[in-house]
Amino acid sequence: MAKCPADFDFFAADVIESPFEFYRVLREQAPVYLLPGTNIYMISRLDDIRQAAKDTATYSSDFLALLKGPEPSEEAARIYQDALEPVNTLLTLDPPRHKVYRSLINKVFSASRVEKMHDYIDQIANELIDGFIDRGECEFVEEFATALPVYVIADQLGVPRSDLRKIKAWSDAFASRLGGMATPEEEVENARLIVDYQQYMTRVVEDRRANPRDDMISDLANITIEDGRVLTMGEAVSMIEQLLVAGNETTTSAISGGLLLLIQLPGQWQALQDDPTLIDNAVEEILRLESPSAGLWRVVTRDTQIRGVDIPKGSMLMLRYAAGNRDEQVFDQPDHMDVCRRNADDHLAFGQGTHFCPGAMLARKEMQVAFTRLLQRLTNIRLADGKNDLSHWPNVVLRGLKSLHITFDKNASG
Ligand code: HEM
Repeated sequence: MAKCPADFDFFAADVIESPFEFYRVLREQAPVYLLPGTNIYMISRLDDIRQAAKDTATYSSDFLALLKGPEPSEEAARIYQDALEPVNTLLTLDPPRHKVYRSLINKVFSASRVEKMHDYIDQIANELIDGFIDRGECEFVEEFATALPVYVIADQLGVPRSDLRKIKAWSDAFASRLGGMATPEEEVENARLIVDYQQYMTRVVEDRRANPRDDMISDLANITIEDGRVLTMGEAVSMIEQLLVAGNETTTSAISGGLLLLIQLPGQWQALQDDPTLIDNAVEEILRLESPSAGLWRVVTRDTQIRGVDIPKGSMLMLRYAAGNRDEQVFDQPDHMDVCRRNADDHLAFGQGTHFCPGAMLARKEMQVAFTRLLQRLTNIRLADGKNDLSHWPNVVLRGLKSLHITFDKNASG
C-alpha cells in the first residue's frame, strides 16, 4: 500500500537515518506539512523553499532560543552561568541588522582570499593522504574528511594546530546542541565545551586586539562597525563560533558522504578518473544529494499561507533543503547520482538569499581539491569488510556519516 506522511515519524531514529522516502511522500502528498504534535511546518519542494528563504519579513531567522536547545538541566544551567550572554549575529538575525555582521564576514572571507588558498588546501589534502596511503586502509571520516576543514579553518582563524582536538570537540558540541537530540549527559558535556570555547576565544580575541596578525580572528577582533566601535566580546565570539560550526561539520559530511557515493557507484568514480574536468560538477551533485545542512528553521512572523495551507503566526517553518534538492520537478531521477547532470548546481545545499552560505566558495574549493587528490592517488577503493554500519549522527538539522572505513590500492602516480 502506498505510504502517506503520517506513516513516518520525522524525529524517529530510522527516519533520521534514511529520510528519502519520507521526503518523496511529502513532496507528492503534503509539500507543506505540519509535523504531528508540533507547530513545525516542513516544506519540501525546491521552489517553495527558495521563495520562503527570500521572504525574511514573513519567515524570520531569529531562532536563537532554539539553538540553545531545550531548557537545560540543572547541572547544564549551572555551567551556562559562566557563559557569555547569547547575541544574535548572522545565522539568527534578520535584515537590516543582519547586514552589519554579514558585511564583516564578506570582508574577511573574500573571493581572492579563498582563491589564494588553493595550493595550501592541496598541501593539507596531500599530507593527510600521506598519513594513511601506505596502510592501504583508513577510517576516512576522522583521518581525512574531519581533518581537512578543521585544519583549514583553524589556520584561517589563527588557532594553533596543537589545539585542533579542542576545535573539533567544540564544534561537535555546538552541532549536537543545534541537533536537539543530545542525552542529558551529552547536554552537560556540551555545556562544558561551549563555555570552554567561549573562555578560550575570549582570550584569543583579547590577544589579537593587543597583537594583531594576518588572520581572520585579528580582522574580526579589530574591524569597526556602525558608529566606529569594535565588536563586543559576545558578538566576536558568536561570529567565530558560527564559522567553526557551520564550516566544519558540513564540509566533513559533504566529503565523507561524497566518497561513500563514489564507492557505491564505481562507474561514477571511473568517469571522474577518466575525465577530472567533471570534478567540479560532481561536487555540485554530491552537495545536492548529501545536503549536509539538511534543513533550517524559520520563525513565522505573521499569519500566512503556502500552497493554500494556513500557517499561523508563531509557528516554526523548516526549510528542508535536503528534500528540495531531490525534487523530481527540478531534477530527473533525483535520487540517482550523475556526475554529468546538467543542472546539478540548481541545488539549495548552501541556502538561498540573505543567509546564503558565506563559506560556499571555501567549501567548494576544499571538496574540489579533496576529490581531485583522492582520485589521483587512490584506486580500487572499497568499503572495509565488516567494519561499517554507515550510520549517520542523530541530528534533525545536520546530516553526516559517523565513520567510513575504506580500503584501497595506491595509484601508480600516487
Ligand atoms: C559543504 C559545506 C557547507 C554547507 C552545506 C553549508 C550550508 C549552509 C547553509 C544551508 C546556510 C544557510 C542557513 C540558512 O538558511 O539559515 C549556511 C550559512 C552559513 N554558513 Fe555554510 N555551509 C557549508 C560550509 C561553510 C563554511 C566552510 C563556512 C565558513 C568557514 C560556513 C559558514 C556559514 C555561516 C557563517 C553561515 C551563516 C550566514 C548568514 O546567516 O548570513 N559554511 N551554510
